[in-house]
Amino acid sequence: MKTIFITGGSTGIGAASVRKFIEEGWNVGFMDVNTDEAMKLVESVGNPDRLLFVEGNTCSREEISRAVNQTVDKFGRLDSVFANAGIHRANTLLDISDEELDLMVQTNIYGTVNTLREAVPNIIKAGGGSVVINASDQWFVGKPHSFAYGMTKGALGQITRSLSIDLGGYGIRVNAICAGTIHTPLVDNLFAKFSKIEDKSVEDYWREENALYARGRVGTPEEVAELVFFLASDKSSFCTGGHYLVDGGLVAR
Ligand SMILES: NC(=O)c1ccc[n+]([C@@H]2O[C@H](COP(=O)([O-])OP(=O)(O)OC[C@H]3O[C@@H](n4cnc5c(N)ncnc54)[C@H](O)[C@@H]3O)[C@@H](O)[C@H]2O)c1
Repeated sequence: MKTIFITGGSTGIGAASVRKFIEEGWNVGFMDVNTDEAMKLVESVGNPDRLLFVEGNTCSREEISRAVNQTVDKFGRLDSVFANAGIHRANTLLDISDEELDLMVQTNIYGTVNTLREAVPNIIKAGGGSVVINASDQWFVGKPHSFAYGMTKGALGQITRSLSIDLGGYGIRVNAICAGTIHTPLVDNLFAKFSKIEDKSVEDYWREENALYARGRVGTPEEVAELVFFLASDKSSFCTGGHYLVDGGLVAR
């Protein structure tokens, strides 16, 4: 039975991924700062033998180490990691504070690097496996009010390339998912801010966002979890170093 470690698993894309891997018969260890939502998820999944939650912040290498070790102790091995935890703040080069810039870099870049530094040696011990990094459509395109977010997601896209080369010899594939707008708590909070900045109602903001997509709507966390599962599993055995869009046609425009 395979085991995956997921960061930011309490809500949104992470939570849908936790559910998907449990449905597919995997063991899942997940970590998040949001314990309340994690507890609701654990209860609704109802599979204590194959699911472990560890509270922790990816910005702390010590906390990541503890969560990865507890996952390996419980399930005996680690085959895959989904470095998913991330945040977005509305900013441009002209208005970002030093504190916000630091928070974005610490969370989205260092948080991911910390996760990989702790998880990958365990995947090597298991004889190889798969790394999935949650980048963004902002690896491909720029978006307004997203200076620091785009910068950090660009870094994750590059990490995907270099790691796929360095880890290939260990039998580890490394891929990034690049999602368009997916309806999650992160986006609900963000669009409330964006609509204020642009002096629009939230409803108008959503209407315009949906219209950008060839599918006529933004995506769901479950639609992203399908891609995460494909890339984490042996079904994607010839995929490595790739940036996989799940964007309803946004970037095709
Ligand atoms: N929703 C989108 O439109 C979209 C698009 C492309 C990429 N993404 C990426 O997907 C990932 C998940 O986002 P989401 O939309 O599901 O948002 P979300 O806010 O629903 O989920 C993020 C989860 O990560 C947790 N988290 C945040 N910082 C953490 C930290 N330092 N340590 C541990 N846990 C932490 C949060 O508590 C939350 O449970 C992010 O990396 C985001 O950038 C989202």
